[in-house]
Amino acid sequence: MAKTILVTGAAGYIGSHTCVELINSGFNVIGLDNFDNSSMATIYKIEAITRTTMQFITSNCVDGKLPKDIDGIIHFAAHKSVGESVQNPTKYFSNNIGSLNAILDHAKVLKVPVVFSSSACVYGDQYRELLHEDLELNPINPYGLTKVFGESMLKAADAAYGIPTAALRYFNPIGSHESGLLGDTTITNLMPYILKVATKEAPFLEVFGNDYNTPDGTAIRDYIHVTDIAKAHIKAIQHLIDTGKSLPPINIGNGEGLSVLQIVEAFEVATMLEIPYEFRPRRSGDAPTLVASNKRYRSLLSQDTHKSVEAMCRSALNFKLKGI
Ligand code: UD1
Repeated sequence: MAKTILVTGAAGYIGSHTCVELINSGFNVIGLDNFDNSSMATIYKIEAITRTTMQFITSNCVDGKLPKDIDGIIHFAAHKSVGESVQNPTKYFSNNIGSLNAILDHAKVLKVPVVFSSSACVYGDQYRELLHEDLELNPINPYGLTKVFGESMLKAADAAYGIPTAALRYFNPIGSHESGLLGDTTITNLMPYILKVATKEAPFLEVFGNDYNTPDGTAIRDYIHVTDIAKAHIKAIQHLIDTGKSLPPINIGNGEGLSVLQIVEAFEVATMLEIPYEFRPRRSGDAPTLVASNKRYRSLLSQDTHKSVEAMCRSALNFKLKGI
């Protein structure tokens, strides 16, 4: 019988793509979102893409409205702006930690596994060519702290109650579902800003920092297609359900670093659109280089094929041009 997965933050960027992949893989999905930073329209788009009707709950995780008839939980719901977390840390502590605590409480009662959204920001700004999961964690902002503490909460919950868990440390998701209906609207992130420049809503891209110790002086990130990230969740929850055992923390990245200027160039080549840019000072809290050591991801959760950076850029533009 088809398994039922509760997806919190279902209307978010990675959450919505994961709902689509879950449904397409034969799972029943119950979505939950409080629409703090998203909208019901995204849920309708998931339904349009998958030609299904999705059960949905409008709620916070802590409001006691979590459904009981489920086989697993994928917990995306969280605040995710580094800058805001520095300005208002308690907002991040109460929401991100409070939500995860409510999810683990629920999982404890139902005895179901939990996949948790962690982030590359758990590594802080330590410079390594590749960031391996076993490095000491060194978060440099309150958002990162909530992810490190969240991972510790998973471990404690597994040890005490035997809840199988997985923490997926996302690097930089970009791109959009092939329908062009789902995508990233986080205005502070690089790709949404490149799209604004591509469509002439903004005159040029501000490149934050050209004095990093990198080949072209701009910061390096590990960009990965959001659909590849979504698919990793299917494998993770399936693994937890099948084995009843936790996974170690897993970096979700392609293992290849691209600088801001390399992304701009890839976008220009892939779309034939020009992206003028100007250099600005470094953005506070930014690490120079974040690239995943992705052996675990490759061996445990990845697909055989991965989308190229050009495909990521074209699909991101497709979402922007659909504009709905
Ligand atoms: C950000 C968050 C991270 C979150 C991730 C996904 C910060 C500091 N980090 O990662 O916690 O998990 O998004 O939502 O907010 N850049 C420019 N010009 C721009 C925008 C960005 O040069 O207009 C540069 C940044 O300085 C960075 C790179 O592009 O070097 C990527 O930036 P961004 O897309 O915001 O992702 P991260 O900061 O890596």
